Amino acid sequence: MQLVSEQRTKLDNADDALFYDYPRFVTHVDDRFIEQLTNLYRQRLESNTRILDLMSSWVSHLPKEMEFAHVEGHGLNAEELAKNPRLDHYFVQNLNKQQVLPFADQFFDAVISTVSVQYLQYPEAIFTEIHRILKVGGIAIISFSNRMFYQKAIQAWRDGSESDRTKLVFKYFAAVPKGFTRPELVANVPPSTSFLAMFGMASGDPFYAVVATRCE
Ligand SMILES: C[S@@+](CC[C@H](N)C(=O)[O-])C[C@H]1O[C@@H](n2cnc3c(N)ncnc32)[C@H](O)[C@@H]1O
Repeated sequence: MQLVSEQRTKLDNADDALFYDYPRFVTHVDDRFIEQLTNLYRQRLESNTRILDLMSSWVSHLPKEMEFAHVEGHGLNAEELAKNPRLDHYFVQNLNKQQVLPFADQFFDAVISTVSVQYLQYPEAIFTEIHRILKVGGIAIISFSNRMFYQKAIQAWRDGSESDRTKLVFKYFAAVPKGFTRPELVANVPPSTSFLAMFGMASGDPFYAVVATRCE
């Protein structure tokens, strides 16, 4: 599956580097989301392995007690990445301009990406690269919620329902023929805000993670 060119468009068509030019020292999802993600990492990642945190920032959601052989960070803002305490090294690269990642084949045991996949205009090329740099048996964990910088998300993401977005990430994995195991969805979607509001309760950010491993 390939997106058609209109599906790749953003409302804000300016270079992404401009949008991320100044650092945002904020968290993009709520504590409950982060706790679920950290737990998923605890279950699925292995200590002493090499991890790439693609589209990262100043915070890490990796479990504090786990030690890794190497954590590589990537993003668009060097100031944010410099503050991230878990990164052994980082690099800045605009993935909408350059999709080839600067790593040898099968360099990483895991590639993780949090609340960012919606900004990729060429996801098929990026998932092909994720496949290339993962070891056979290596894992990719792509997580997202319903929050986003709307003007920077691609049309296919903006216009879809949450269920459509999940299917989209499944399709991104499928864009690498025979490359990944059938993706698994790990999701926890709280009851709608309006329903909880009737009982004076607040809702949380929906949690979605699509997980697959490199099979050949
Ligand atoms: C919402 S933030 C998420 C940051 C981090 N993963 C987290 O969990 O807090 C989106 C990230 O995507 C990255 N990003 C957005 N557009 C990008 C692009 N065109 N190329 C590379 N990275 C991009 C930015 O660096 C930004 O930090």
